[in-house]
Amino acid sequence: VKFAKSLGMKPDKWQTAALRSTAPRVLLNIHRQGGKTTTTAILTTHTVVYKPNSLVLIVSPTQRQSTELFRKVLNYYRQLGKPVESEAENMLSLVLENGSRVISVPGSEAGIRGYSADLVLIDEAARVPDSVFEAVSPMLAVTGGRLIVMSTPAGRRGFYYEASMSDRWEKHTVIATECPRISAEFLEDEHGTLGELSYRQEYLCEFVDAAGAAFTGDDIDAIWGGCAPPRSEPHPVAEVARMSEPERVALEQQRYMSGLTRQRGSRERARALGQKLCQHRWSPDRSHCMWCDKQSEETKAC
Ligand SMILES: Nc1ncnc2c1ncn2[C@@H]1O[C@H](COP(=O)(O)OP(=O)(O)O)[C@@H](O)[C@H]1O
Ligand SMILES: [Mg+2]
Repeated sequence: VKFAKSLGMKPDKWQTAALRSTAPRVLLNIHRQGGKTTTTAILTTHTVVYKPNSLVLIVSPTQRQSTELFRKVLNYYRQLGKPVESEAENMLSLVLENGSRVISVPGSEAGIRGYSADLVLIDEAARVPDSVFEAVSPMLAVTGGRLIVMSTPAGRRGFYYEASMSDRWEKHTVIATECPRISAEFLEDEHGTLGELSYRQEYLCEFVDAAGAAFTGDDIDAIWGGCAPPRSEPHPVAEVARMSEPERVALEQQRYMSGLTRQRGSRERARALGQKLCQHRWSPDRSHCMWCDKQSEETKAC
């Protein structure tokens, strides 16, 4: 907080709490223009200057948005008069002589694989694919690093929504009417421009159903009797498209085993035709068939 003040910023109450937090997982559900990016840029600058050999990873839905946060870090670092000399400075990364680094990447699983970070920031987190969160968790398990996700909500689904409902996260929620920098007139104007749902999402930080959704979240919960759908149900196309090849194959195998993709009567038809029952589906390393488990050496002629 002192560091923020030395940069000419007077942190709001929630910003003070977030800057002082040492929780491993922090969720900032703060209204648009509330100061999420500013706060975490200050935290990043502080981390790399004071903690040698640390790696801070900046993730957001697009490279452009990650660069936006990174640019703030660079500005703060330069404003401080570069208290630790830099070895390299460019639009994507900053490397300091104390061994610390800040790297900005786009929100894709491939973009973040391979790093072991001490602090990961996910900006606009509600718009980042779930596969990114899944790739970040193991990375932090190794280093004992921290994860800070920040966003306005984007519907009642996905990782960000689930985290907002979970006790495992330290959560900060601030709505725009609590912000000293935003006037009531501006909010009234935005309310009129954006419409009810978007206004509640962007300025009141509510997890509302997407505008235009055919069914509300409550309708869907009621259909499932409050339970999640069983995993053997067909996955939505978008979810399957995001999966890696081994995940897709495992899903296909699981669905095959549960009978979802077997055609009725195919076994009988195959028998009548004198065919072998298994039309092999090779594992990604092509060592065995994932349906009948035969090894490839034995079954090459099959
Ligand atoms: N505590 C503060 N005091 C003064 N200005 C602030 C403070 N926090 C944020 N701001 C300013 O508010 C604006 C929005 O901040 P930003 O961090 O981009 O918000 P968000 O990422 O939540 O949309 C920026 O111009 C930033 O400089
Ligand atoms: Mg921002």
